[in-house]
Amino acid sequence: MSDLTPAEIVKELDKYIIGQDKAKRSVAIALRNRWRRRNVDAELREEISPKNIILIGPTGVGKTEIARRLARLTDSPFIKVEASKFTEVGYVGRDVESMVRDLLALSINMIKAREQESVQAKARAIAEDHILDILLPEPKDRPDMGADEFIDVSSPSPSATTREKLRNMLREGKLDNRYVDLDVPEKSMPMVEIFSSAGMEEMGINFKDILGNMMPKGGGKKRKVKVTEALEILVQEEAQRLVDMDRVITEAIEKTEQSGIIFLDEIDKITGKEGGSGPDISREGVQRDLLPIVEGSTVTTKYGPVKTDHILFIASGAFHVSKPSDLIPELQGRFPIRVALNSLGKDEFVRILTEPRNALLLQYIALLRTEGVNVAFDDAAIETIAQVAEEVNNHTENIGARRLHTLMEHLLEDILFDAPDRNDKNIIIDRAYVDGKFRDIKEDEDLSRYIL
Ligand SMILES: Nc1ncnc2c1ncn2[C@@H]1O[C@H](COP(=O)(O)OP(=O)(O)OP(=O)(O)O)[C@@H](O)[C@H]1O
Ligand SMILES: [Mg+2]
Repeated sequence: MSDLTPAEIVKELDKYIIGQDKAKRSVAIALRNRWRRRNVDAELREEISPKNIILIGPTGVGKTEIARRLARLTDSPFIKVEASKFTEVGYVGRDVESMVRDLLALSINMIKAREQESVQAKARAIAEDHILDILLPEPKDRPDMGADEFIDVSSPSPSATTREKLRNMLREGKLDNRYVDLDVPEKSMPMVEIFSSAGMEEMGINFKDILGNMMPKGGGKKRKVKVTEALEILVQEEAQRLVDMDRVITEAIEKTEQSGIIFLDEIDKITGKEGGSGPDISREGVQRDLLPIVEGSTVTTKYGPVKTDHILFIASGAFHVSKPSDLIPELQGRFPIRVALNSLGKDEFVRILTEPRNALLLQYIALLRTEGVNVAFDDAAIETIAQVAEEVNNHTENIGARRLHTLMEHLLEDILFDAPDRNDKNIIIDRAYVDGKFRDIKEDEDLSRYIL
């Protein structure tokens, strides 16, 4: 787990998210606290529960973005769940537990990938030997192997030196274009994956086993593949074989329990303030179902039980209509840290357009450069775009920084369309250009509702 200090975490977040300093500080502290907790004596450690956070703020101000970036920073398993999805038709209470299962599955994949990476060298060595066996079968050991039609071996019993020569040729890539016969495993059908993750687990049905039994045994069939491809297939196979899955699972469960983070988006949509009587019951029902998971309980998964006591929950919501105090009291108590995010105005928009590593302007500049077109934005133009964004947000609906996306798309539409056919490959976007694009629309409120 990463041991970044709170200041370092904030600094990393600053590379992508403008402002929202309080929110960044809170998530940084929460993250650091888990690291601290792990260094506390075992007895007390069990008593320290995570301080879950609610991020409160209007739409498009960076709530999800902060959580997303946080996930990439730490190497903790992290998933984002829309709380509102549990209110959908067909929802059954136990489905909320699926978020813990998903988190574990993710954790397993992370660790498995890491382990497979660490056995690459060994797997490659084994795979190489396997290829050599196929290219140069030893007559005694492998009577049923096909004759060595590809290699002209002069001595009747291939000696160790021939094998080593061949190995060198293999490494130098001289055999790359040869073909070998290989048992290629059948790809498991993707459909099966969909089934097995969609709630079949609770029913104790393993579709893969059922379907697997229906299919012919003995793995795949022999196929002619190029040596390079064969090597890759065998390395993958070996890497999978070398990884001790039991250990991976044990570690993944430990990691999920100790450093997992669940981002519960749209939590305000499960408060019961708005609407009539019907949906309210189900929303409060969802809160009740969430409660044990947030408070700490044990969720059964096909890999074994997972305790949720120390999973960190970061909830987020606009809370326009409802307030955090509309959540059921038990749930409020589990989210002691509340952070309000600021709504964004012109000054922030200027910075969001230009400063982040993935800033929108940089993205468009890079896209157009692939066509040989160089666009540049002068300062006045950027100011104007930010200004228009603020105005449109004020006049129509405030969608925060998302407004910049719609504005930029409209602003650059002609250029994006014409780029391949343009003669003039250098374009400077100035205030006049921006004004020209937005003047009419901005003044017509109805029009801006549709276009911007
Ligand atoms: N403070 C910010 N700095 C940089 N970019 C931002 C900021 N706020 C929002 N953005 C941009 O706006 C987009 C939408 O932001 P985000 O998804 O975080 O909204 P949100 O706060 O989660 O809103 P919602 O309540 O609708 O889920 C992001 O993809 C990001 O590019
Ligand atoms: Mg969001």
